Amino acid sequence: MTNQEWIERGEKVLAPTYKRFPVAFVEGKGQYLWDANGNKYTDFLAGIAVCNLGHSHPKLVEAIVNQAKKLIHVSNFFNIPPQVELAELICKNSFGEKVFFCNSGAEANEAAIKLARMYGKKYLGKEKIEIITMLNSFHGRTLATVTATGQEKFHKGFEPLVEGFVYVPFNDIKSVENQISDHTLAIMVEPIQGEGGVNVPSENYLKDLRRLCDENDIILIFDEVQVGMGRTGKIFAYKWWDVEPDIMTLAKSLAGGVPIGAMVTTSKFAKAFEPGTHASTFGGNPLATAAGVATFNIIFEEGLLTHCFEIGDYFKRRLYYLKDKFSFIKDVRGKGLILAMELDVSCVDIVTKALEKGFLVNCTMDKVLRFLPPLIIQKDDIDNLVNCLEDIFKKI
Ligand SMILES: Cc1ncc(COP(=O)(O)O)c(C=O)c1O
Repeated sequence: MTNQEWIERGEKVLAPTYKRFPVAFVEGKGQYLWDANGNKYTDFLAGIAVCNLGHSHPKLVEAIVNQAKKLIHVSNFFNIPPQVELAELICKNSFGEKVFFCNSGAEANEAAIKLARMYGKKYLGKEKIEIITMLNSFHGRTLATVTATGQEKFHKGFEPLVEGFVYVPFNDIKSVENQISDHTLAIMVEPIQGEGGVNVPSENYLKDLRRLCDENDIILIFDEVQVGMGRTGKIFAYKWWDVEPDIMTLAKSLAGGVPIGAMVTTSKFAKAFEPGTHASTFGGNPLATAAGVATFNIIFEEGLLTHCFEIGDYFKRRLYYLKDKFSFIKDVRGKGLILAMELDVSCVDIVTKALEKGFLVNCTMDKVLRFLPPLIIQKDDIDNLVNCLEDIFKKI
């Protein structure tokens, strides 16, 4: 089967929710991918921040195979050992004391919103119902999380939206202050906005949000779906800013590519849930959580946090080299291995050209080239990408 044959078969049977590039990947190893025609690519997208360990990491594969041979699924009516182990690892490495497992980022955020509402009803008073989220945020595609997402383009056609959400500009503490009222229940924010264009907040922003929450009995929710699990060079991104949320959501790379989501909180907030209030059939199943345990262990055993931070720094310097050469590059930004270049021009065609030359990169917000490679990416790969981009840019 060739790329073209897969494209034609897919077009007949897949819902048209994606505009797909004309390749079908059939194999991956480390930071490299191969398509059905046998072409090799270097991956600077990692399944949108999912494959942090690279593709088919042997220890991850071993953990998945071993678990699959033993037990793939059992209901949450029973105790699931790898689920307990993964929750212990998350709590040991974060502010968390209790974890609810689900299957995606949207579900993790949905759980966070539901917990906040339930906690509000039980302990804060009926009038506290409003959740403040940020413009250009992204929190998922279920009705509640798409409403939480502060981008109108994702809302269109799905109205009526879920009640109780208001939006303020990201990284603007005054706007948050002005928005807070007796009705404010929670503030939900990505520590670094991913889909919104890799927007890194100023030094005090998250700490100021924490202070406002403490002063006004407001629940602080950090969405670490994209930036958690080492992406920024710390296991969780919030650790850069000396601040802790009340609830944190994880997904994407938590199990190295096996679907999973998690809502992490403290005992104080978790007590608002009781048996029957929230659930998920697949959430925390043995297969996904065994993969999660292996992912944590590999990140620490292989020193991927340090590597991510150091190589991210090198990558950023190489992006600045391009910025110095091409006046249409307006900005270089990011942390660790969530990096971006904002351009004066659309980057949609650049992504297509890079793919033709064997590199997966991403365009978000039309003019932001975003890079999310596996945390194992090497200097040579970065140099090759920078040379490729330089060639493409010379023709703009
Ligand atoms: C910050 C953030 N939150 C939530 C989501 C939604 O995750 P999922 O697609 O797994 O539902 C995403 C996906 O890109 C994201 O980047």
